[in-house]
Amino acid sequence: MQEDLRTLLESLQSKASAGGKRKFARNSTRGPDFQTIHALVQCTADLSAEECFNCLRTGYESLPSCPCYGKRAATVLMPSCNFIFQVNPFSNKLPTEAPPPLWPPPPSPLWQSPPPLPPSPPPTVTARTVIITVVPTVTVVILIVCTFVILRKRQKRKHLLNPIESIHGDDTTTAESLQYDFSAIQAATDNFSNANKLGQGGFGPVYKGKLPNGQEVAVKRLSVGSGQGDLEFKNEVLLVARLQHRNLVRLRGFCLDGTERLLVYEFVPNASLDHFLFDSVKRRQLDWEKRYKIIGGIAKGILYLHEDSRLRIIHRDLKASNVLLDADMNPKISDFGMARLFTLDETQGNTSRIVGTYGYMAPEYAMHGQFSVKSDVFSFGVLVLEILSGQRNTRFRNGESVEDLLSYAWTNWREGTSSNLIDPILRGSSGIVRDITRCIHIALLCVQENAADRPTMAAVVLMLSSLSLSLPVPSGPAYSMHNVGNPENSLIQEYNSRMSRSSQNEVSITELYPR
Ligand SMILES: Nc1ncnc2c1ncn2[C@@H]1O[C@H](COP(=O)(O)OP(=O)(O)OP(=O)(O)O)[C@@H](O)[C@H]1O
Ligand SMILES: [Mg+2]
Repeated sequence: MQEDLRTLLESLQSKASAGGKRKFARNSTRGPDFQTIHALVQCTADLSAEECFNCLRTGYESLPSCPCYGKRAATVLMPSCNFIFQVNPFSNKLPTEAPPPLWPPPPSPLWQSPPPLPPSPPPTVTARTVIITVVPTVTVVILIVCTFVILRKRQKRKHLLNPIESIHGDDTTTAESLQYDFSAIQAATDNFSNANKLGQGGFGPVYKGKLPNGQEVAVKRLSVGSGQGDLEFKNEVLLVARLQHRNLVRLRGFCLDGTERLLVYEFVPNASLDHFLFDSVKRRQLDWEKRYKIIGGIAKGILYLHEDSRLRIIHRDLKASNVLLDADMNPKISDFGMARLFTLDETQGNTSRIVGTYGYMAPEYAMHGQFSVKSDVFSFGVLVLEILSGQRNTRFRNGESVEDLLSYAWTNWREGTSSNLIDPILRGSSGIVRDITRCIHIALLCVQENAADRPTMAAVVLMLSSLSLSLPVPSGPAYSMHNVGNPENSLIQEYNSRMSRSSQNEVSITELYPR
């Protein structure tokens, strides 16, 4: 198994390194005993191909010394890259003999070439009968499937191009009313001056701007081609702009000018949650009351996206930098709806368009590209554990040792020592510790391995608001994670310096589904 895993990881290493801005690859292979080995490797976007290759090599080399070595699933987090593997038995037993190949397979170390076949005899009457019956049937089935797919695509396109009629028949907002002049945005942001730069994400830099009417805005200047025409882009903006909730950042409009594409958001004055949570000084401003309010607000915002808005939206990149804080420290989720604004290349199947942020991704999403409301629930669970511990899940420390936040939370919760996980500045009265322990319990329900076992966001909101509600017992969290390396070594130092950049370079993608 280890040999097959290594071969798979090495093939993904080259693929991910050569992956341009998105250094990401995923594949699976057959292992012994009818098992399938799935693996995913990923580097942060700021690495060169060579750096990515080397980072992954270091990770692979340290695998034998990892406690996860020989396990069925693990995530190995490196400073600027990570890889995940999972071994699943086949659901159906393989036939003992391989079926005849449809065409000669390419030479591969995994498979033995079949012995040369004897010259085939001319088709018998039975074979001819089979051909006569099977071919037309298969052709008809293919035609039906194609017609169905084409009709669905047309329907979807019609729906896309007429969002006002199809989804918001009563809403009179038009794309024109949301469109800003490029010159107006240039003036508002002092020509995109560095002084006005708020940050840099995977889609491009974000600037603060002030419009002539005094309104403050945040302008995302897209540097990633959106892969779609102006009309579609406008319509998608129109859809996303209509999603309004007190826990969502409002999209006010957009600007299209030649190759320039800008998204104009409401300005949220207290920046993102990560700026507070992972800063040893600013973290002190977040007492338990504020954190509880933030957790509740995020839950309500996601619930709106999942169930209460007129579109069903899966965020797909919930993380601390995508939660902004307003003047009263109310949370506002940002970067929802991005998948509609960006048609990314599909060359790597589902996952090339959905790279979330490692550490927050549910295993079924990371391994198989399957995203659902439950993969958002998983990310929410990770985020809650970060809020309660005041530490990043990818850089969690217990004293001197680097640990896996999810496993650490699980072990301590089971042993009744949850207070070990809690941010020391929160450990006040026993009442507070009891409430926080309940939140840890809820978070552990969210990060369970089996997506079906995770609660819906509606259930989460209920559990958070009614303290008397008894909670089910969670099963263990998804795959265990392992931070490879000693915190003192240069990789960790490099990691510390890169983390701020890498988190800025990952791309948020959201998917919307019409109800
Ligand atoms: N509406 C806003 N109001 C105030 N600040 C904002 C707003 N939107 C973004 N920012 C700031 O700009 C920074 C960059 O945001 P951006 O969404 O581009 O990057 P990110 O969230 O780190 O990564 P990603 O591209 O994956 O979302 C954020 O960390 C935040 O501080
Ligand atoms: Mg963001």
